[in-house]
Amino acid sequence: MIKTAVIGYPIHHSKSPQIHTYWLKKYNLEGSYEAIEIPPENLQEKLQQLIDAGYAGFNVTVPHKETIFDLCHEVDETAKKVGAVNTVQVRDGKVYGTNTDVYGFVQNIKHEVPDFDFTAGKAIVLGAGGAARGVIKGLVDEGVPEILVLNRTKEKAEKLALDFKNVKIGDWDNRSDSLSEANMLINTTALGMSGSPALEIDISQLPQSSLVNDIVYAPLHTDLIQAAQKNGNRYVTGIGMLLHQARPAFELWFHKLPQVDEQLQELVLR
Ligand code: ATR
Repeated sequence: MIKTAVIGYPIHHSKSPQIHTYWLKKYNLEGSYEAIEIPPENLQEKLQQLIDAGYAGFNVTVPHKETIFDLCHEVDETAKKVGAVNTVQVRDGKVYGTNTDVYGFVQNIKHEVPDFDFTAGKAIVLGAGGAARGVIKGLVDEGVPEILVLNRTKEKAEKLALDFKNVKIGDWDNRSDSLSEANMLINTTALGMSGSPALEIDISQLPQSSLVNDIVYAPLHTDLIQAAQKNGNRYVTGIGMLLHQARPAFELWFHKLPQVDEQLQELVLR
């Protein structure tokens, strides 16, 4: 039986076991997917134990996404560009790292708005953290001609601009005035998530043809998504990114690219 898991600390909140277990059942495959809590100081030792126990791979979540990078024998181009590994495959006792968040971000949009043209204009990205790096890698891969990053801490955006072509930096404080001419607006910060401060932004200057995407999915209809609805913009909620990023990981381990369906979406939103 193929054994897999998600590793993190804490791990009880992770929705990944629900997602992968759903697919194992749906496609009638023999396999397991557990949630394993590993404190940061034990990562190397525990990782070796899991390899020795025959695990085929893992998802990696907070706080291990950067640390695991150095423990991998090989890391692919996508994970290198993002600077984080969220999925690993074990082959012959060796650990191979990748990052499926980029795929998840892009596929969510393609699935929800199939005729959306990434190349039609500028993308505005709110935030410059780990999530923003994955999103920007996806935007660059899809041929977005210009990416404007707005982040509270400007230095972090400047660092990001060194790593990606086509990235320009704007002013966080003037974010509501930077939205004209944008083809898409993406929130990659945790602002607007239940328990976090609100994302304060007025999107009335955003063209109606723009697509709005929030990577926050709790609540599903964040203030930003509600503003997009009111403004008449097309919008994509954050839940699909979580579901779509899981697909290539499942395929790596179980050799079947699973599909996202409504039942799965309802299950994780419950
Ligand atoms: P993640 O991996 O989820 O992106 P992160 O790397 O900690 O997490 O990044 C969090 C992002 O949310 C950053 O862009 C952060 O801005 P700073 O670089 O200025 O810290 C942004 N963020 C978090 N809290 C914020 C707040 N109260 N106001 C504005 N931006 C905030």
